[in-house]
Amino acid sequence: MSAPTVLVTGGAGFIGSHTCVELLEHRYEVVVVDDHSTSSPGALAAVRDLAGRDLAAHRADLRDAAALDRVFTRHRIDAVIHFAARKAVGESTLIPLDYYDINVGGTVALLRAMVAHDVRRLVFSSSCSIYGDGGGRPLTEADPARPTNPYARSKWMCEQIIADAVRRHPELSATALRYFNPAGAHPSGRLGEDPRGPLNNVVPFLMQIAIGRRDRLRVFGGDWPTPDGTAVRDYVHVVEIAEGHRLALDQPPSGPGLRVLNLGTGVGTSVLELVTAFGAACGRDIPYDVVGRRAGDVAELVADPGRVAAEWGWKAGRDVAAMCRDAWRFQRLHPDGYPD
Ligand code: UD1
Repeated sequence: MSAPTVLVTGGAGFIGSHTCVELLEHRYEVVVVDDHSTSSPGALAAVRDLAGRDLAAHRADLRDAAALDRVFTRHRIDAVIHFAARKAVGESTLIPLDYYDINVGGTVALLRAMVAHDVRRLVFSSSCSIYGDGGGRPLTEADPARPTNPYARSKWMCEQIIADAVRRHPELSATALRYFNPAGAHPSGRLGEDPRGPLNNVVPFLMQIAIGRRDRLRVFGGDWPTPDGTAVRDYVHVVEIAEGHRLALDQPPSGPGLRVLNLGTGVGTSVLELVTAFGAACGRDIPYDVVGRRAGDVAELVADPGRVAAEWGWKAGRDVAAMCRDAWRFQRLHPDGYPD
């Protein structure tokens, strides 16, 4: 039997590229669709290099139905992992319609193409932000959705759209992985996070401060109801998130309905604890100022990762120190990101 072929949308992005390595290392064939609006083709060169295998890559926007149809016609796709989306909370409050257009529109177009080409397996990149504020307690998949910003709402809408598609097409097996805050980089230092455009997430800021491209971190809020007053998140190593996606494909088809699983560690880390950990990893103090809260933010988001441990045996074991070390290694080896 030939190896399954996986279409990875957004495969040149941070989590997408690590997932491509993981798939290639586990005998899957990989086809990437990415419009490179927020990612570099250099990431795919690094993936090929690291995995020692080739993959197919197409530059396309998912909302371009004709381009997507060409990809599904050219390759016999067995499964899809759907990452391609915009993902910055703050930005989503400024350009909400773009977020719905790209994230929701892209997902609908992809589902249409999957149905048209009888592709029956989908893993969707979802987000813990769907839960809203954790209220100081680990979140389970049974907790209600209370998204607080357009990015999070777009992910919640996509989950519901996928659930409706599965109800109509029960042969479709779909899993939504709600990850908490992916961080770190491939331990080789050859693959990592290289955001294009304005920075949003905290770890890329820390990386750029450590390498001297920025001066100081703005810590958004010192008055959250948390032990040190800064917001708490569940950071989870990107290599383990990538493993989670591969495990999703290794499982027998799920169903009926959309399977939802958290990917997190269950350990909360405050922004100030993260600043200290990154400083230790890079060997210099990270200067920071505590400023006002960022629109759309919440105090605390930590996973209860029990369901995925019970169902698949997936457990994230790499700690924040390892994430900071690996992120810093990538940044040190790529001070200006991937070469174009
Ligand atoms: C958000 C989503 C998360 C998603 C991620 C994808 C929410 C609540 N969470 O994570 O589900 O996976 O985007 O990118 O919607 N911070 C600073 N200074 C900075 C940048 C960030 O203090 O310059 C703080 C933030 O206020 C937050 C923490 O660092 O408390 C992490 O922020 P970030 O990395 O942007 O991720 P989230 O917003 O938690």
